[in-house]
Amino acid sequence: MCGIVGFIGQKDVKNVLLTGLETLEYRGYDSAGVAIYTNNEVIVYKDKGRISHLRQVIGEDASTMGIGHTRWATHGVPNQVNSHPHTSQDGRFTLVHNGVIENDDALRCKYFAELKFKSETDTELVVELLSYYVNKYTQVDVAIRHMMNRLKGSFALAILDRDNPDVFYVVKNKSPLLIGIGDGFNMVGSDAMAMLRETNKFFELNDKEYAIISRDKVEIFEITGAIIKRDYFESSIDPNDIEKGTYKHFMLKEIDEQPFVIRRILEEYQLNSHLYIDENILSLVRSADRIFIIAAGTSFHAGLIGKQLFEKLTNIPVEVYISSEFVYNTPILSISPLFIFISQSGETADSRAALVKIKSLGYKALTITNVKGSTLSREADYTLLLHAGPEIAVASTKAYTAQIAVLSILAYLTNPNNTFDLQHELSIVSSVLETLCDQKEVVEECARELLPTTRNCFYIGRHMDYFVALEAALKLKEISYIQTEGFAAGELKHGTIALIEKNTPVIAIISQENINLNTRSNVKEVKARGANTLVISLKSVSADGDQIVIDDVHPLLTPLVTIVPIQLMAYYAALHRNLDIDKPRNLAKSVTVE
Ligand code: G6P
Repeated sequence: MCGIVGFIGQKDVKNVLLTGLETLEYRGYDSAGVAIYTNNEVIVYKDKGRISHLRQVIGEDASTMGIGHTRWATHGVPNQVNSHPHTSQDGRFTLVHNGVIENDDALRCKYFAELKFKSETDTELVVELLSYYVNKYTQVDVAIRHMMNRLKGSFALAILDRDNPDVFYVVKNKSPLLIGIGDGFNMVGSDAMAMLRETNKFFELNDKEYAIISRDKVEIFEITGAIIKRDYFESSIDPNDIEKGTYKHFMLKEIDEQPFVIRRILEEYQLNSHLYIDENILSLVRSADRIFIIAAGTSFHAGLIGKQLFEKLTNIPVEVYISSEFVYNTPILSISPLFIFISQSGETADSRAALVKIKSLGYKALTITNVKGSTLSREADYTLLLHAGPEIAVASTKAYTAQIAVLSILAYLTNPNNTFDLQHELSIVSSVLETLCDQKEVVEECARELLPTTRNCFYIGRHMDYFVALEAALKLKEISYIQTEGFAAGELKHGTIALIEKNTPVIAIISQENINLNTRSNVKEVKARGANTLVISLKSVSADGDQIVIDDVHPLLTPLVTIVPIQLMAYYAALHRNLDIDKPRNLAKSVTVE
């Protein structure tokens, strides 16, 4: 993974780089570094730790050009030597890299059998390879093309040349990279958010392209050296969306945004006051004899709800796959399948590998994503956007609800015979979400009572509630580090109930009439074995003693509301343990390695 930035122009370069990198910390945050051009020299500051630490160790040198990096370790442990930037041993080139070089070993053996590398990273190979080709062909752009032809894998690179104070170079293959254009400066970043404080005008860079960036010019080239003419686009992201405002954590801010996100989705998917999705997309779905939903993490959990929505509202059978499993264990496909990719970031490498596979088989794909222009969006035939606004906290919250809302609209419109008023039902959801967000103290109290010191916890539910239990367990474990499992309530007694002992927290979700009594029996079973139980229910199926009762919504939309106390429960459990909520250990928001 990792995030990269680069800047050239008359500004406080170090500050622009560091501020950009702070925005990119969602991509990794175990080490960070910058290289700045100053007095015909390139000076590198890098270390293990976060950008806040880098700010303290960085020097005072003035500069007009620099590159920076925030790392999520893949090759070699997080330490000072493995941190980026890396400099070639002849001292001429310094670069930062996001991605993974697949033929690192082969290239080392072939070209550098005698060289003693300083770090364990694949990136050091890249900078040596560039220097090797510059020695051979003299011109840097020619060397870059040779290097690109040799490298296999994913690489977004920003490169400084000690012998040229006027330009820096960028290269892109598979890992994301955008070029930001400004008045008297130009810059690059792994995403638009890293540059939004400086500009909202961007050039897209596609795979196997490179660019030469100077203060007042950006030249983009194909791998052949042919120059490319490209129009810039303006981003519509509001810079305020990437600030915490009065919130202590992005996660809480994003939980609170969910009622507005549902309203925004209702506005975006509307024409003449009716729900609307492009007819081409709807006929694509209608012509499918089977839908394959492919996604990872929280998006996979949204996909499980999507299956329920499609099967109930359209009668089209749906299979849901974890992206990394689909690639290597592809199921038997039907005659006219449709593939739906769900991804908040649109960059997840596992999902992209699955997309590449199905495209190579000649099938059509639809991506549902939060990020316009992301890789999964560009490479699919169609895209539906989530309109959730940037999600910064690693634990996904508003993207999950947005994914379910968009899936519900798609499933609903696919079948013209659906008679209930989804628009109205989703606006009820939005109001219920608002009420829930206003009652945080109730959930905070439950988290304080149930989860203060526990090492493990179970979420149980049946039908829709089971799928929410899976997402609930992921939320709690990823930010509080409490070992949590989500179970089908009826399955617990077939083995896992052996783990229940005095005070084990078991949280039941009950939102559907037809499973109400059965799940309640399961609650009694664990209670009889000493569990500390908590019930989250909808009003129409609630019982005396349920700790969290939510206003009713349409039975197919219950995951949109039951998830909110669960997200809050995870938030408060982590808060009470004093953990780094927005940046949990070992995780990254956008996982661009397989
Ligand atoms: C990472 C994130 C998760 C996310 C998953 C899939 O693991 O930490 O929050 O659900 O990737 O990401 P995507 O962007 O494809 O939805």
